[in-house]
Amino acid sequence: MQEYLLEFEQVYYTYPGSQQSTLNGLSIKIPAGKKCALIGQNGCGKTTLFLLANGLYKPNSGIVSWCGKPLIYNRQDLSKIRQKVGLVFQDPEQQIVASTVEEDISYGLCNLGLPTAEIKYRVEQVLIEFGLTKLADKPVHHLSLGQKKRVSIADVMVLKPQLLILDEPTAYLDVKHTRNLMKTLKQIHQDGNTLLMATHDLDLVYRWADWVFVMDKGQLMLEGTPEDVFCQQTLLEELELGVPLIYEMLFDGLSPEEEIIIERVRQRILKDS
Ligand SMILES: Nc1ncnc2c1ncn2[C@@H]1O[C@H](COP(=O)(O)OP(=O)(O)OP(=O)(O)O)[C@@H](O)[C@H]1O
Ligand SMILES: [Mg+2]
Repeated sequence: MQEYLLEFEQVYYTYPGSQQSTLNGLSIKIPAGKKCALIGQNGCGKTTLFLLANGLYKPNSGIVSWCGKPLIYNRQDLSKIRQKVGLVFQDPEQQIVASTVEEDISYGLCNLGLPTAEIKYRVEQVLIEFGLTKLADKPVHHLSLGQKKRVSIADVMVLKPQLLILDEPTAYLDVKHTRNLMKTLKQIHQDGNTLLMATHDLDLVYRWADWVFVMDKGQLMLEGTPEDVFCQQTLLEELELGVPLIYEMLFDGLSPEEEIIIERVRQRILKDS
């Protein structure tokens, strides 16, 4: 099995008409089979990275590769890469194409030309998984933002991509639907897929991820296990990123009794994840 699915090598990208480059020699490798989190300040280039990951944008220089092979930017190859790299957009409005929930979730499967019975089965399953069954016939533009977000995640998950990229998937979701989403992502990971999620929720990163990337100004600054990354207090402070609550408490200094409690909580979190 390939050790890394997606690789960026010295990638530069500047938006058309912009004076400043957004990705500045970004090199990053997404390890196969891991739950990866990508963190970094607003505007550091996370979404831009994702748009290059499935070939929606092309680097000005540098190479983006899938399983060791550089992407080829023609219609046929891009269509293949988009089946392997599924991207859930930060803004659900950008993802949604059809008029009703069910139609929207079926859209990608119809494009793949799958048999009608299989499409029906897969869509039904995803509707159940995301608690959308009752909304199946509803016009998408009548949904709440959180409901639209769930539809947009379902749209991509139903296609079962090998690498599922989620841009701020829990934004707009309430506690219940965040929990459900995390459960679904756990299952997708257990089925052998790779996940890459951008988020500002550091507690979620600590609980969920097994590999963390830290970006700043279009470059990769740090990567490692959550334990390794979040103990880099000085660097994270320099980047103004903060740390999960549990590390904040540790860094604040604790009494021996408090330390025992925090350690127990930490073990519990690690066991649950
Ligand atoms: N369409 C665009 N045209 C010009 N500049 C853009 C465009 N989209 C993004 N940018 C700029 O590129 C930089 C990186 O934006 P990007 O959306 O990748 O950041 P991000 O890390 O995803 O931020 P956030 O945490 O807010 O989602 C920002 O400075 C932004 O202003
Ligand atoms: Mg973004």
